[in-house]
Amino acid sequence: MKKNNETLKLLLERGSCRVFTDKKIPASVINNILEAGLRAPTGGNLQPYSVIKIEKTSSKAKLAKLCGQSFMAKAPTHLIFCMDFHRLKRWAALEKAPFSADSSLRSFWIAFQDTVICAQNMCVAADSMGLGSVYIGPIFNNISAVRKMCRLPKGVIPVVSLVLGYPLRKPPIRARLSRNIVAHNEVYRNISDGELLKAFDEKYKNAKTEINAKNLKTITEVCKNVNGDKFANKCLSEIEARKYINRAQLYFGLHYRADKMLAANPKFLKMLKAAGLVCFSRVKK
Ligand SMILES: Cc1cc2nc3c(=O)[nH]c(=O)nc-3n(C[C@H](O)[C@H](O)[C@H](O)COP(=O)(O)O)c2cc1C
Repeated sequence: MKKNNETLKLLLERGSCRVFTDKKIPASVINNILEAGLRAPTGGNLQPYSVIKIEKTSSKAKLAKLCGQSFMAKAPTHLIFCMDFHRLKRWAALEKAPFSADSSLRSFWIAFQDTVICAQNMCVAADSMGLGSVYIGPIFNNISAVRKMCRLPKGVIPVVSLVLGYPLRKPPIRARLSRNIVAHNEVYRNISDGELLKAFDEKYKNAKTEINAKNLKTITEVCKNVNGDKFANKCLSEIEARKYINRAQLYFGLHYRADKMLAANPKFLKMLKAAGLVCFSRVKK
């Protein structure tokens, strides 16, 4: 792998950082990061996003609590990336132009992509200046609270947050699925079950989670809620036979509970609607 290129080296050796020194990030560094983000490609050059910088101790503590991740409070800077239909809507109104982006699925799709691409430009820029960074997803579980805290007008919808700071130590490089599993030539290569299991086993080093009563109860409940009693029995038999909980069962049965993910849909749609994103609730003209 070519590593004599600074950008490639940075990308190939990156790890998410969750432990930071007390050092604040100078405004000039933050400004460079922001400028790098604004140079990101954006559909139609419309830039349907805003970025909220958070450095106040009380705000960081609140976000840490909302997202259930205490390390967030210790990072000097958070950047919250939001889709922003508000600014475009105002521009259209002022310029007497028609506007439907906040109720269009296509516009949502582009705005979401633009927001994330902008975020990743800033993430790479931050890493290139010796900062550590980690994305924080659970911002989207707390859209209403974040909107209130940051006084986001309707049409400005938080997507993801990037927590930044000077790393206390170099974060580890975590394994990925290999290139021949993820990248396809011209057409999708549907791998065999054996190859698929091997790929995940290699990535997670066949990680095993210990069985205990609480885990078993939760997994059973999740299976029943999503796939029914018969599947729950299948899952339990597999656990009993192996004498451990495998990584897929851990992820979908305990960590990102498949039933809770599904059950959150109505609440999530309600939060998006309240935030002014009506494309999911206005399918008909
Ligand atoms: C959209 C998104 C949301 C994430 N949310 C969190 C989070 O809430 N907390 C956290 O510690 N890491 C979070 N991460 C970081 C991932 O856990 C991390 O990227 C992944 O485990 C791979 O590790 P690496 O980035 O160190 O290679 C998130 C990453 C992404 C892209």
